Amino acid sequence: MKKWRCTVCNYIHEGDTPPEKCPICGVEPDKFVLIEETEVAAPKKWRCTVCNYVHEGDTPPEKCPICGVGPDKFVLQEEIPGDLPAEEKDAIQKLLFNVSYGLYIISSKNGEKLNAMTSNTFIQVSDRPLRGSVCLGKGTLTSEYVRESGFFGVSVLGKNNHDLVKHFGYQSGRDVDKFKTMDYVTGKKTGCPGLSQAICFIGCEVEQVIDLGTHYMFIGKIVDGDEFSKEEPMTYAYYHATR
Ligand SMILES: Cc1cc2nc3c(=O)[nH]c(=O)nc-3n(C[C@H](O)[C@H](O)[C@H](O)COP(=O)(O)O)c2cc1C
Repeated sequence: MKKWRCTVCNYIHEGDTPPEKCPICGVEPDKFVLIEETEVAAPKKWRCTVCNYVHEGDTPPEKCPICGVGPDKFVLQEEIPGDLPAEEKDAIQKLLFNVSYGLYIISSKNGEKLNAMTSNTFIQVSDRPLRGSVCLGKGTLTSEYVRESGFFGVSVLGKNNHDLVKHFGYQSGRDVDKFKTMDYVTGKKTGCPGLSQAICFIGCEVEQVIDLGTHYMFIGKIVDGDEFSKEEPMTYAYYHATR
């Protein structure tokens, strides 16, 4: 059985031909490559530091097909010690598409400066006291702000917040001021911004930082909260199906 890999989201399809449409990110069959053909040559993998898209080839792409940034925003994806072999990992990674996530904008501050990024990794982890965790890539400006300030804010996105996912997820605060045109409230105890267009805001005070190699996991006590609308929450799967 042939195996086809989606070059946009890494989904693996098995069959004689690629699927008519990627069930994960929705792209057409021309975005699929036959795994045997590419994997034999073991091409280098380049990861977009802005949107995490992975490109295979000797050099990074001229332009990221997802978020549009240039080759300077790509880093060579090195082998991570303890990671599964590529073939085995591809198969297991596919199973993870069955895990449900929400979508959030994680904010923080550095003195007067504000920044935030899109994330699908916020979850509540305890209820006495209320605590939440989030995993942020080490290269992101937001993770730097969270480490420095010790606070992070979570804006929970609704089904009509696609524009916020792109605004905060496809560009870095190192290049633009993402809050310049945004309406937000400021958490009373955290000082972190919560977006008025979102469903609600949750503010956390960091208690623990766990180093996961490529990411930091921040565990925080929930100390702020504000509700803006009764919109239905956006899931990661819904975003991919409708973006
Ligand atoms: C749908 C979506 C989900 C994302 N989830 C995460 C995540 O959970 N953790 C992470 O480190 N980056 C995630 N990202 C990528 C960051 O949002 C992106 O790298 C952002 O540009 C970082 O911005 P900053 O440098 O201004 O902090 C996600 C992006 C998108 C579009």
